[in-house]
Amino acid sequence: MSIQMHRRRNVGGTTLVIFGASGDLTSRKILPAIASLWDQEQLPEEFSVVGVARSPLGTEGFRNLVMRSASDWESIGSHIENFHYLQGDYKSISTYQSLTKLLDSVEQSRKTGKSRLFYLATIPDLFGPISMLLGESGLAQSGPSGVARIIIEKPFGNDTLSAQMLNSDMHRSFSEEQIFRIDHYLGKETVQNLLALRFSNAVFEPIWNRNFVNNVQITVAEQIGVGHRGNFYEHAGALKDIIQNHMLQLLSLVLMEAPATMTPDSIQNEKVKVLSSVEIPAKSDIATRAVRGQYHSGVINSDEVRGYNEERDVSPTSRTETFVAMRLAVDNWRWAGVPIFIRTGKRMSRRETKVVMEFNRAPHLPFTGSSARQLGPNRLILRIQPEEEIKLVFGAKVPGQDYNIRSVAMDFSYANTFRELSWDAYERLILDALLGDRTLFLRADEVIKAWEIVEPVQQAFADPDFPLYPYSAGTYGPKESNKLLQASGYGWHNS
Ligand code: BG6
Repeated sequence: MSIQMHRRRNVGGTTLVIFGASGDLTSRKILPAIASLWDQEQLPEEFSVVGVARSPLGTEGFRNLVMRSASDWESIGSHIENFHYLQGDYKSISTYQSLTKLLDSVEQSRKTGKSRLFYLATIPDLFGPISMLLGESGLAQSGPSGVARIIIEKPFGNDTLSAQMLNSDMHRSFSEEQIFRIDHYLGKETVQNLLALRFSNAVFEPIWNRNFVNNVQITVAEQIGVGHRGNFYEHAGALKDIIQNHMLQLLSLVLMEAPATMTPDSIQNEKVKVLSSVEIPAKSDIATRAVRGQYHSGVINSDEVRGYNEERDVSPTSRTETFVAMRLAVDNWRWAGVPIFIRTGKRMSRRETKVVMEFNRAPHLPFTGSSARQLGPNRLILRIQPEEEIKLVFGAKVPGQDYNIRSVAMDFSYANTFRELSWDAYERLILDALLGDRTLFLRADEVIKAWEIVEPVQQAFADPDFPLYPYSAGTYGPKESNKLLQASGYGWHNS
């Protein structure tokens, strides 16, 4: 099957300014995405990149880094002259004065306009200071000769208050329309497909509600541990790292009402509405609604792996959670009374992100066989990664004289169906930001709503007496996570 390229979209001459140019995000994600977009002819010749960082790399050093990070893409060598570097302190106004001069000279030599996209690939503590200094030095202003836009990536604050402060710091220099907040899950094709599945098919809508759906389960399971990010993870934990952002995004796309149009505000309004309907549990109820765990050593794919407490940069007595399961409720007309179970963990038995809609059982089974009595409910499984598929599970008659009914599955696989090249999330999101399309980015109020949901949980977890259950690496989390569902007659869908 030959792969089809995407049609070219109209990015005008722009300079991408990467703060944190010598860091991990730049070399792992941003530079490969740029190189791939060039390979696919999605970027014009007049596209330049200016890397800014504290390291004394120099332009040569930065170009070497670009060549190493993007060595898998053919055309990077022929564009290497488009990369420039500025060494500077992020908190000093003189860096921004030098940046203004460098941008003027790059734009003049390449005869581009003055469109600039600032990508803050730095630690989050610098988002506020950098954006304010960009504002002070006049770089945040859009004008007739070009637009200024800024990309930041989660985490957006540590709690509701710090997220509000970050929003207001950013808004001092940039309007909301200029800000592109990345949650890379929204850049995944299969996450976008949640909207296509729900809002381009008449068949699902009538059953997508409390009258037919018995419960919803969302899983983000990872096999990897914390790797070299121990330092970061000690302050984050699964709740802030995955639930506050990726999981609540998945939840809102699965449960929101249909947007009037596919414009950013239409979609974001619906996401905010559903997030506003998520019941915010009282701190005293968290113990019966949430389970947290931490992985111990275990075996994954026949390899022995160490426990979280033995990871690099992690305290041996750390009580940071690497697993969280929660029961949520969405108090609106569509979902009242339907439990929404979510869970995420590191070092789980396999990597999988999926949404399972479990439907009510048939009201009456006229069949006598025992297999019919054991028949599971209908399920719609939306698997987001690693295999991208949609599966409908239903009962079918096993061939033979008796009415033996067994659960079978109807499968749709992305890879087997489409020939189009699937874009990496960063390619898609960077291109959208260059085009000024905010559909797949988070709006300021969405971020705040998501923090309001997790904040009481965060406070409960801060109590040293809140249980932290161990689980072996290579399993599906602590058994208490099963009890959370079993207590009300439900069970995780694990296959
Ligand atoms: C990041 C988290 O946002 O998402 C990581 O900080 C996590 O801890 C990663 O591993 C998961 O992303 P993906 O695309 O591999 O599911």
